[in-house]
Formats: sequence, structure tokens, C-alpha cells
Amino acid sequence: MLLKGKVAIITGAGSGMGRATALLFAEQGAKIVAADLNLQAAEETVRQIRGEAITVQADVADDAQVKAMTEQTIRSFGCIDILVNNAGVPMSFTPIEQVKEEQWEQIMNVNVKSIYLTAKYAVPYMKEKGEGVIVNTASIAGIRARPGLNAYCASKGAAIMLTKALAIELAPYKIRVNAINPGPAETPMLSKFVNGDKEKVEKDIRDVFLNSVPLGALIQPEDIAQAALYLCSDMAKMVTGEVVNVDGGRGI
Ligand SMILES: NC(=O)c1ccc[n+]([C@@H]2O[C@H](COP(=O)([O-])OP(=O)(O)OC[C@H]3O[C@@H](n4cnc5c(N)ncnc54)[C@H](O)[C@@H]3O)[C@@H](O)[C@H]2O)c1
Repeated sequence: MLLKGKVAIITGAGSGMGRATALLFAEQGAKIVAADLNLQAAEETVRQIRGEAITVQADVADDAQVKAMTEQTIRSFGCIDILVNNAGVPMSFTPIEQVKEEQWEQIMNVNVKSIYLTAKYAVPYMKEKGEGVIVNTASIAGIRARPGLNAYCASKGAAIMLTKALAIELAPYKIRVNAINPGPAETPMLSKFVNGDKEKVEKDIRDVFLNSVPLGALIQPEDIAQAALYLCSDMAKMVTGEVVNVDGGRGI
């Protein structure tokens, strides 16, 4: 019971790493706010949780919806101990001259602006409580580039630097801020990084992603959840501004 009684907001909790994190945190005693753009998916996550949990439909890139998500958390559970900024969007291989401005902005808004927005509304409650933990899911692509993933790599690089900027700013308030860099992970998102029909997507996942992992396997959502659990628990009480690569060695 590493998170007994803690209130945790997890964004993108309806799928992949977000769902695995919500389930593990609940097992460890946390009260879960499962937030997702996809309400049905978040509801399915909550259905799988035995402890206390609520669903919030929110677009993490929208100021008013993030504010409402935070207020709903306070109304339901009275405080915010943990914020996991996990929601994100991928991009498939696109030469820079073909990247549309709207695509660039969507990736930046969901993958980076969301961290600013959630912090803007959650940090005042953490300051009031005198402690808090934020974990941002970045990507190994934020430190090791891949061709054609220009906007995605830039967004995750920014997420990593924003993590450090918030860590130094919020340390005096005993609010820790860390990031996780997943490597290629077996979730619904992975196939969206590549183009083509089912056969080509499967081949690319093998050739491009699986073969790039020195430990020889794709990362599982539960591997990310375990790292998030460590960072959000008191085991990591002196860890802040850190970036944990959970990537099977891809970043070496
Ligand atoms: N899968 C990978 O290979 C991989 C690798 C490195 C980093 N990541 C990062 O890990 C995180 C989780 O990815 P995943 O693989 O579990 O993806 P996923 O696609 O399985 O789940 C992402 C969830 O985020 C939600 N979401 C998307 N946009 C949203 C928005 N605007 N507001 C609220 N919710 C939104 C989706 O509805 C979905 O439920 C993302 O930030 C992703 O960029 C993934």
C-alpha cells in the first residue's frame, strides 16, 4: 500500500499506460481520478478498479476543461496529492515540409501545453497542502530523435525541460516533478507512429521499433506504471527534476 489514501489524477487513463497506472495506483491504495477525452474508455478503467475512483471527461489541452477536472477532483476527494500527465498524441512519419500547422499545434497542445494547464490548476492545491507529486510521461523520442517524427520529438523534448523547470520552481513547496521516458511500448498508440496497411505496420513495428530495443522486447504499459509508482511514492521522496528512461536501453 505505497499510496494509501493519496488522491491521484491520471490523464489518458482510458488506455495503455494511463490505464495500467490507474489500476496499479488503485491497488496501492490511491483514490483515482481517471481523466480522458474518451469517456467510455475512462469508464472502463474505473469499472476495473475495486477502490475509490471517478471518471472525468476532459481534453487536457483545453483550459476550461482542465479547470473543471481539477475542481471535480476537489469536490469528490478534497485534495490533489498526485498528478500523472500521461495523455499524449503520436505522429506518423511526416517530412517536415508536409507537417500541417494544425497538426503541429495539436501535438504541442496535447503533449506540452497540457502540462502547463494541469500544473496551473493543480499546483495551488498542492501548495496549500504543503506537498505533491507530478509525473510527466515524455518519451525516449524527447532525447533521441527519429526521422519524420519532428513535432512529436520536439513536444517530448519540451515536456522534459518543462519537468525540470517546474521541479526547481516547486521544490521549496515540497512538490516533486519528474518525467518518465517510455521506449516503444505495446499500446494502441504504437501502430500510429507508422504509415501503411496492417502488414506494413506490423513489419515496421518489428523492424523499426522492436529491433531498436537492446533488451529485445517492447515495453509493456505495466513497466511504465511501476516507474510511476516509484516516483509517486515516498521511496522517491528525494527525487525531483529526474527523467527515468523505461526503454529497454533504446536511449543508450
Ligand atoms: N506507446 C509508445 O510507444 C510510447 C512511447 C513513448 C511515449 N509514449 C507516451 O506515453 C503516453 C501514453 O501513451 P500510450 O501508448 O499509453 O497511448 P494510448 O493511445 O494507448 O493512450 C492515450 C490516451 O490518451 C487519451 N488522450 C489523447 N488525447 C487526449 C486529450 N487531448 N485529452 C485527454 N486525453 C487524451 C486517449 O483517449 C487515450 O486514452 C503518451 O504521452 C505517449 O506520447 C508512448
